[in-house]
Amino acid sequence: MELNDVMLKRRSVRQYTDEPIPADKLERILKAGLIAPTSMNRKPCEFIVVQDKAMLKKMSEVKEYGSAMIADSSAAIVVIASEKNADTWIEDSSIALSYMSLMATDLGVGNCWCQVHLRKTGDGRDAETAVRQLLKLADEYRIVGILPLGIPAVEMKPHTGDEADFTKVQYR
Ligand SMILES: Cc1cc2nc3c(=O)[nH]c(=O)nc-3n(C[C@H](O)[C@H](O)[C@H](O)COP(=O)(O)O)c2cc1C
Repeated sequence: MELNDVMLKRRSVRQYTDEPIPADKLERILKAGLIAPTSMNRKPCEFIVVQDKAMLKKMSEVKEYGSAMIADSSAAIVVIASEKNADTWIEDSSIALSYMSLMATDLGVGNCWCQVHLRKTGDGRDAETAVRQLLKLADEYRIVGILPLGIPAVEMKPHTGDEADFTKVQYR
């Protein structure tokens, strides 16, 4: 697909079939994250691919709202970055997540950004800490978000581009 078409087609898909993600597609999605640009080319991001159903269920419960779809995903990519390696871990991780989301869309793999950083668990604990504990990660690892993946069980209307609000653009 043309890049513009991929961008319009990308939607937050939260319902998935039980089909696994073909290994070659998963690899291409990860490659998109691995080649994403990073500040000073430090490449601090690491990717944990969770496919174990029990772990996906646990991760889906890490927030009160907005993480339930992880339970039904075929795989979820947790983007982690050591804050010791890069003060730009938020930016670097966000770009990697976006690249992977666009590649997944291009390959027909449904996906949805699940925010972890700045979010709380249902009982008010820090969601990043909760994910770190589940995956037994050291405290230096920061977690912007998780990208659940699955073959879409719903068809989402692509964006048309008409919602682009040019009143938010200033030329000076
Ligand atoms: C930074 C960021 C955080 C988001 N966090 C969540 C989330 O935790 N759970 C969720 O279901 N969707 C989340 N989303 C998806 C947005 O709700 C979604 O992108 C937005 O409503 C527009 O819909 P669309 O992606 O279908 O175009 C997030 C998106 C972004 C960019």
